[in-house]
Amino acid sequence: KGKEKIYWVCSNCGYTAGQWWGVCRSCSVAGTMKEFHESKTNDTDSKVNGFLVLEDGVGSWLPQQDGEMLPLRLAEVNRGLNHLHWRIPLSGSFGNEVSRVIGGGLVPGSLTLVGGDPGVGKSTLLLQIAAMISEEGNDGEASPVVYVSGEESIEQIGNRADRLGIESDIYLYSSNDIEDILKKVRHLSPQALVVDSIQTVYLKGIMGSPGGIIQVKECTSALLRFAKTTNIPVLLIGHVNKSGDIAGPRVLEHIVDVVLYMEGEKYSSHRMLRAVKNRFGSTDELGIFEMSHSGLQAVSNASEMFLSEQQLDSEILAGLAVAVIMDGSRTFLIEIQALCLSGSTGSRQVNGIPASRADMIISVLIKQAGLRLRENAVFLNVVSGLTLTETAGDLAVAAAICSSFLELPIPNDIAFIGEIGLGGELRMVPRMEKRIHTVAKLGYRMCIVPKAAGKALGTESLEKMEVVGCRNLKDVINTVF
Ligand code: TYD
Ligand code: MG
Repeated sequence: KGKEKIYWVCSNCGYTAGQWWGVCRSCSVAGTMKEFHESKTNDTDSKVNGFLVLEDGVGSWLPQQDGEMLPLRLAEVNRGLNHLHWRIPLSGSFGNEVSRVIGGGLVPGSLTLVGGDPGVGKSTLLLQIAAMISEEGNDGEASPVVYVSGEESIEQIGNRADRLGIESDIYLYSSNDIEDILKKVRHLSPQALVVDSIQTVYLKGIMGSPGGIIQVKECTSALLRFAKTTNIPVLLIGHVNKSGDIAGPRVLEHIVDVVLYMEGEKYSSHRMLRAVKNRFGSTDELGIFEMSHSGLQAVSNASEMFLSEQQLDSEILAGLAVAVIMDGSRTFLIEIQALCLSGSTGSRQVNGIPASRADMIISVLIKQAGLRLRENAVFLNVVSGLTLTETAGDLAVAAAICSSFLELPIPNDIAFIGEIGLGGELRMVPRMEKRIHTVAKLGYRMCIVPKAAGKALGTESLEKMEVVGCRNLKDVINTVF
């Protein structure tokens, strides 16, 4: 009794072991195993699936006792359980944007983790979601949603709700004790539960302070069991620490059903919501919001949101080119900026484009298009803080560099789509047709594409846009400049 138990937990994946390993045996990352001490205060404590299980009396959301459940026939499980396919709808432009990311409405009994840097807008997002669910109602019946905060007082949440113009039937509660929270919430049988945040709650009888790895894991497991046994969907906020702090949500990703990350640039009001794990849908849709004085709003002109002011103005600078990228099922126009500085050593500074890709494009421009970039410093930047992960942006990168090098601006009604090969040839990219149509819809005059793209185009009208197929970089330079 009172003996201290030592174990090691991987800060990357949460793998727990009784001994230290140089390389995590689960995720194979080196140097991530951290030591934890846990004093055994109770003989009845035991471990199930690596998690601490307490004595009786903590609540029914703790694991079922042996023998309580029997294996069920598939037919019996499915009978009368059509609610499994039913989702709590989220409507309106804001609701649609959230639904897009989670793959439909909220799934009953699911546990969703919403991560993001402090201040990015997680509490705002979830308060708005809570308000929407309670407004939607449950067949006209009163249908509360409970918002529990361990960070703010109910007055503070009330103030925020007031600012957001929320008037729906939400219950606010401020507590840090998971057992207390779940008891009271269960009593209300709400449509959904929001817990803000995992770092501020604790489970009595478990060692460690709130926010520590053990508490974070145990509290999340308790919330998961609560969600599964009551069918109440639980939305959980977690502050992420980019360095992958041991108590950060990385560890929780394995426990929860859905992991959403909210991101935003410091000086921009745009917020992006992305699913990185989703047991009920895909993970490649992106939700885009704008943080306004009255909360988050869905962005209506999403395709153009990554263009800078200059690009939308008439005055154009040299070194700018518009790329057309896909994220999930959506098409975005983003602006690539290049600056070539002659007379300096060939240093390269790249922001938003993988350095190796940028190097390749610059080398191809030197070798295949004859640009004397070797004596130039080249700076590249993607406006908006996005990272250009698609090769479809190669051509715009090359065009921006050419424009800066030649000091000839590219008219701002031209867009570029295409991958560049080592021979300077333009190559096809996926979903060419969809990209071209987006560009046409936005009123562009010209779209430069690989020669082969002509075949991908249907017979539909492209407004007044000219689609110019080019074989290689030399063709492009002759067409544009
Ligand atoms: P918050 O939701 O508290 O962030 P998190 O929970 O992720 O820490 O939002 C923080 C920022 O959002 C804060 O700086 C103020 C801003 N904000 C608005 O701009 N408009 C609003 O209507 C609200 C509620 C917040
Ligand atoms: Mg908050």
